[in-house]
Amino acid sequence: MAQITSYFQNLNFSVEEGPLVEDDFHNFEALNLPKYHPARDMQDTFYCNDGAVLRTHTSPVQIRTMMSQKPPIRMIAPGTVFRKDFDITHTPMFHQIEGLVVEKEGVVSFANLKFVMEEFLTHMFGDVEVRFRPSFFPFTEPSAEVDISCIFCKDESTGKSSGCRVCSHTGWLEVLGCGIVDENVFKAVGYEKVSGYAFGLGIERFAMLIHKIGDLRSLFESDIRLLGQFR
Ligand code: FA5
Ligand code: MG
Repeated sequence: MAQITSYFQNLNFSVEEGPLVEDDFHNFEALNLPKYHPARDMQDTFYCNDGAVLRTHTSPVQIRTMMSQKPPIRMIAPGTVFRKDFDITHTPMFHQIEGLVVEKEGVVSFANLKFVMEEFLTHMFGDVEVRFRPSFFPFTEPSAEVDISCIFCKDESTGKSSGCRVCSHTGWLEVLGCGIVDENVFKAVGYEKVSGYAFGLGIERFAMLIHKIGDLRSLFESDIRLLGQFR
């Protein structure tokens, strides 16, 4: 988290924060996820009794920042998020870093976003393949998910990843989602005549790949044999 944060601070991004217990408006509604919208199922949510939620992503910090500041905006938001998830690449509590750039209308393009992401990923991972895959998020259009070639099954002689348990036999591991900010998000925060891009990445996925940890859950098991390697 510190490494990624300082990378973006060097690019003049401010660091913003938001609450872990969020309301429906910031976690969903303002992000173009109306009540009963099927895309709410994409993230299995922990609900509190009063209708509040444990935030499922750091994207609500985009909304909070836009509503309390004026464009242009260039921010990241590192923090804890929660989802009803549990397998080799998913835990119920994990960490994301959100990024948001807002400029005047016509200034920001998908090409800018792609360049910034590729530079960042090359900085973090060095010699890996990066794949942009068309995807869907209610709050961005167009959207992409970005995968890194799996380091666990990489054949050193050919440089190709043949597929293994960690990457669900695909040869790729998803590390972030991104896209051009949807017009409806700007409407929800009262912004006009602006353009922007946003991204959200999973910090544990980065840690898995950088430190070759084959099961993301082991980051939270407090096993001394694992922790001892990170003194
Ligand atoms: C989101 O959460 C979007 N808010 C990201 C985004 C932001 C898109 C801004 C567009 C614009 P997604 O559900 O795919 O997207 O999660 C983002 C990343 O979090 C994933 O790529 C993955 O690296 C990580 N991730 C998701 N679920 C888990 C989990 N249960 N455990 C660990 N990492 C996870
Ligand atoms: Mg995803």
